Amino acid sequence: MSIDLQSLEKIPQHVALIMDGNGRWAQERGLSRIEGHQEGAQSVRAVLRAAAQVGVEYITVYAFSTENWKRPPKEVDGLMKLLVSSLNAYEQELHDNNIRLQIMGQFKRLPLPVRMRLQKTMDATAHYTDHTFIIALSYGSRTEIADAAKAIAEKVKAGEMKTKDIDEQSIADHLYLPGVPDPELMIRTSGELRLSNFLLWQLSYSEFYITDTYWPDFREEQFFQALEAFNDRDRRYGGVKKK
Ligand code: FPP
Repeated sequence: MSIDLQSLEKIPQHVALIMDGNGRWAQERGLSRIEGHQEGAQSVRAVLRAAAQVGVEYITVYAFSTENWKRPPKEVDGLMKLLVSSLNAYEQELHDNNIRLQIMGQFKRLPLPVRMRLQKTMDATAHYTDHTFIIALSYGSRTEIADAAKAIAEKVKAGEMKTKDIDEQSIADHLYLPGVPDPELMIRTSGELRLSNFLLWQLSYSEFYITDTYWPDFREEQFFQALEAFNDRDRRYGGVKKK
């Protein structure tokens, strides 16, 4: 089935994705888990391309959670290497499509060579304004909110902020990437119905799209299907439907 992109009336400004199912995709084919992640990296590339094509401004992918450090060292190492090789493979596309790279998460916990490689691309793309590609790396939403609380507490202690001024906006302003609009759409692949500590604050009003497709099989066509489903949703933010 191919999607008529002209029929999409609403294009979300920001789409967040939980890329799940690489391991199962590999297992079903008798491949190693890392081969599943490698194929998954091709899906990241496909989604970036599709998002740029229809004008989605922000794409956030959950590439590595704080919990993922508990995976076998070989898999963690393989994922870190894959990040670097993926950047090498498609940095040019970031330039071609005016895409800025940003990282959200515990950047300092990443191995130094990985940090250096990421920083190089972040610096080289920092001036692009059409699209932003955010990779959540060593990311956990509860830690992010706790870090925001700590930063606010320090400011109150230093007299730079008053307790009475703490509100939703000031908390949002102390998250890892202040100024990035909340995702209107969150996609999770491989059928799991969980948030897995991903963007708990930012996804408060987002539409969720869950597909049974494993991440390595999630490409342009599947992304457009998710946008089509988003177009059929009616977002009311707790209000009543407008006549
Ligand atoms: C979850 O599948 C996937 C991950 C933990 C890693 C996702 C990372 C990539 C696709 C690497 C490329 C990323 C970028 C940004 C280039 P899983 O291993 O939990 O799958 P399973 O539930 O089937 O075991």
